[in-house]
Amino acid sequence: MIKKISILGGGNIGKAIALGLLQTGLHNPESIIVTRRNLSLLNDLAEKGIKITSDNRFAVENADLIIIAVRPRQVNNLLKEIGNYIKSETHVLASVVPSYNIDAIARLVDKSVSVIRVMPNLAISVNESMTCLAANTDEHEKLEEVQSVFNQMGKTIIIDEQLMPAATVLGACGIAFFLRTIRAVSQGGIQIGFHAEEAQLIASQTSKGASALLIDSKNHPEKEIDKVTTPRGITIAGLNEMDHRGLNSALIKGIMTSFNEISNSDQSNNINS
Ligand SMILES: NC(=O)c1ccc[n+]([C@@H]2O[C@H](COP(=O)([O-])OP(=O)(O)OC[C@H]3O[C@@H](n4cnc5c(N)ncnc54)[C@H](OP(=O)(O)O)[C@@H]3O)[C@@H](O)[C@H]2O)c1
Repeated sequence: MIKKISILGGGNIGKAIALGLLQTGLHNPESIIVTRRNLSLLNDLAEKGIKITSDNRFAVENADLIIIAVRPRQVNNLLKEIGNYIKSETHVLASVVPSYNIDAIARLVDKSVSVIRVMPNLAISVNESMTCLAANTDEHEKLEEVQSVFNQMGKTIIIDEQLMPAATVLGACGIAFFLRTIRAVSQGGIQIGFHAEEAQLIASQTSKGASALLIDSKNHPEKEIDKVTTPRGITIAGLNEMDHRGLNSALIKGIMTSFNEISNSDQSNNINS
């Protein structure tokens, strides 16, 4: 059972996970450890009772679940540093780093240890993450344990490891894609008469409502769109103009561009490690 969680790499996503764990109300802050070298940037977490340290060994030795949350170029050194302190029987290693596969991670720690790949997004801090998880087939039990932790912080699905790059683009980068969309909608709102704050609130809540409609009903978006588009009405006029201007195409091409980028870096990291 996972009780103590250490997050190695308290940057954007590491901190978001720590805040998400706190937000659940299910974890004692003292059972969470976050590490980074520049410790002063973690003072806000320390004020909430989370343990902060630059000592990765201490963090590993005081955890059931170790979450690797550094940038790809920092993975090699970190995994080699902690390899000696990992205990095969008790530890579970989870990595949110997109471009290192399970085999490469296990090779770098040089131990037989349960490795689970996890791809959350920034909304984990408010317990609204979409988190994809993957593991080797013989890790079913550990995968379920880790999934139960991430289930507390949003929705999760288990995927084939080969889909991790795609999950990174759709779920993790996806937050930025939707935020940019909300900004564009807000800009339109300002032009038609709202103050910036009002426009952003209307755009954000409307976007949340659209998502909730689909998540609750599992309906296809067009089924809900049909309910808003009266013949010769204003909604269909706007939607068609957006389509003529390439809204769908821009989003699909953006996703493909990010996917091509991640596919290239995946290959080089997993071959070199
Ligand atoms: N940002 C997202 O939304 C998101 C979502 C899913 C996955 N990811 C993945 O998560 C990873 C981190 O992304 P990020 O955006 O959080 O990057 P980031 O903000 O740069 O965070 C990386 C953190 O790792 C720390 N670090 C580096 N080497 C370390 C070491 N040896 N020991 C302990 N801490 C160390 C850095 O702090 P110091 O320099 O002070 O040590 C920094 O705080 C990346 O692989 C990214 O692809 C990110």
